[in-house]
Amino acid sequence: MRKFIIDTDTGSDDAVALAMGLKEQSIELLGITTVSGNCELDQATDNALMVVEHSERTVSVYKGCRYPLLKDKRINAVNVHGNDGMGDLGLIHPNTKAKNKHAVDFIIEMVSKFPNEIEIAIIGPATNIALAIMKEPEIMSKVKQFFIMGTSGFALGNASTMAEFNVYADAESYVPLLRSSVPKTIIGFDVCIENTFEEEDIKRLYEKSNLGKFLVDCNSTLIQYNHKRMGCKLLDIPDALALAVALWKDEIVIESKDVYAECCYKEDKTYGLVILNDNTDVLAVKHQYPSNNAEVVTKINRNKFIEKVIELV
Ligand code: BDR
Ligand code: CA
Repeated sequence: MRKFIIDTDTGSDDAVALAMGLKEQSIELLGITTVSGNCELDQATDNALMVVEHSERTVSVYKGCRYPLLKDKRINAVNVHGNDGMGDLGLIHPNTKAKNKHAVDFIIEMVSKFPNEIEIAIIGPATNIALAIMKEPEIMSKVKQFFIMGTSGFALGNASTMAEFNVYADAESYVPLLRSSVPKTIIGFDVCIENTFEEEDIKRLYEKSNLGKFLVDCNSTLIQYNHKRMGCKLLDIPDALALAVALWKDEIVIESKDVYAECCYKEDKTYGLVILNDNTDVLAVKHQYPSNNAEVVTKINRNKFIEKVIELV
């Protein structure tokens, strides 16, 4: 059976992804690791614990990094997901606690116990993963696969003109991540925003089960945010799409590209931009990039994605 770890800054779209990982019977979810991002670490951890309870599973949660690797300032996305990251409806009151082991040590321990077997879905800033790579590079080279929700893909960013939130929150962490020899599949923000739940899909998810209702409630701030911006009730759930790619790649990915991905972190204006060089522009000056280091998903079967999520919860 496939073995997974989900590394998350548990905001409301992470909640959907976690529920999917917890409910999918064909995988073994070894643990959930948390990191600061959408909200600060303790809140992200409580949110993850709450999703585990609502999913009626017993999977352990491990707290990871409170701050980005080098940046002295944390950013968050409370304007999108709510102050508690989960819609500010008072839904978060977990009965359980995180394990007494650091997320980075848990990840290293699992990879060392199951070399070349563990697949890691990174759906928040990559701080924990970067630190694990820096701490135990040899062991971490034996991760089987990284699925990464991060980068703006081939479009503009959502955190700055250039950068997507998860990268912008800790761009330095993308340096060891992208340098690692482990196969990587990137789900950028561009495909996520093209494959949203529409009003009818949200209604179906809500009515499907108690878990479905909880997940829609968690996303209420995000739905309102989209309504204000675009005049319609849409739900973009990037982390759920990333997890769908991880779980059901052959069924939902229609197209992807191999690229050499490189993260800019030195200049303020381009901080968090990930250049995805696919060498297709015949007019461009060709840089001597090393060989491709990632696959980027460019086209999704939206209906399949939506059906599979609703079916699962
Ligand atoms: C990413 O940033 C967060 O707001 C979401 O949880 C997702 O991981 C999208 O840019
Ligand atoms: Ca996230």
